[in-house]
Amino acid sequence: MSSLITEVRRLAAERNAVIFAHNYQRAEVQEAADVVGDSLELARRAAGSDAGLIVLAGVRLMAETAKILAPGKRVLLPRADAGCPMADMITAEQLAAWKAEHPGLPVVMYVNSSAEVKALTDVCCTSANAIQVVRSLGARKVLFGPDRNLGHWIASQLPEVEVVVWDGCCPIHDQVALEAVEAQRAAHPAAKVLAHPECRPEVSAAADAVLSTSQMLRFAAADDAEEYIVVTESGLLTGLRKAAPGKRFHNVSPPMMCPNMKMTRLDHVRDVLRDLSNEVVVSPYIAAAARGSLERMTAIG
Ligand code: 13P
Repeated sequence: MSSLITEVRRLAAERNAVIFAHNYQRAEVQEAADVVGDSLELARRAAGSDAGLIVLAGVRLMAETAKILAPGKRVLLPRADAGCPMADMITAEQLAAWKAEHPGLPVVMYVNSSAEVKALTDVCCTSANAIQVVRSLGARKVLFGPDRNLGHWIASQLPEVEVVVWDGCCPIHDQVALEAVEAQRAAHPAAKVLAHPECRPEVSAAADAVLSTSQMLRFAAADDAEEYIVVTESGLLTGLRKAAPGKRFHNVSPPMMCPNMKMTRLDHVRDVLRDLSNEVVVSPYIAAAARGSLERMTAIG
């Protein structure tokens, strides 16, 4: 174990802190974490944690979600500037105007959105439970945002529901063209393709399975193939190689790299634990309004 990991673990114990890391985080951050998971798992663990302090190694929306679900705990974000371009693609003002254009329709928002947007939302979802969340509403028509690709994936799986989608996306997933996936298939003909639902519809349609990051880990561990083409952020390959040792995993070319997820280094985790800095603050008024949509999300799927 590196001396930096030892220092981080010592500080975490002293502070009665838990370190949560998203599956896309750097390998050394994942290694030092108490919990490594997808968005839904991190949200649920935050709500259930009995530690007084949560260090959330991920992007701001994940730390805000933890704070909203666990208002009595301090939540530290190792890099205050780790944002999410997709979350910035819809503002609360835009959502309010969109709702006014479609009065009465239920609003489902991907958790990759701001706290203010969640406060105007009926129920949030992650990629792990988006289909179950929309199905649970029993509605014939819903508003879904900000990810148009996830919205189209839900619509393809629930033909009975009309999904009106906001025009946002994850630039990292959306930039992968079907040709890049097909080129990898040609190079690795025995490989199965695992795609994240933030991918373009034609990529998801061509995949063998469309899964959240943790669902990919479980799938690869249980499945009988030996080789996979993984169409999501390249940080997941760390977990995949651990979950299914001996199997071969290929990202697309060039590798998918989220600059915001990769901002956090282990020394940043150490710094916030030592200094108790970068505490995430969500206004109590916004948090109270957003909590219902997040609690409904964590209860489903
Ligand atoms: P997961 O919830 O599948 O981990 O995805 C999070 C995310 O931000 C994907 O880009």
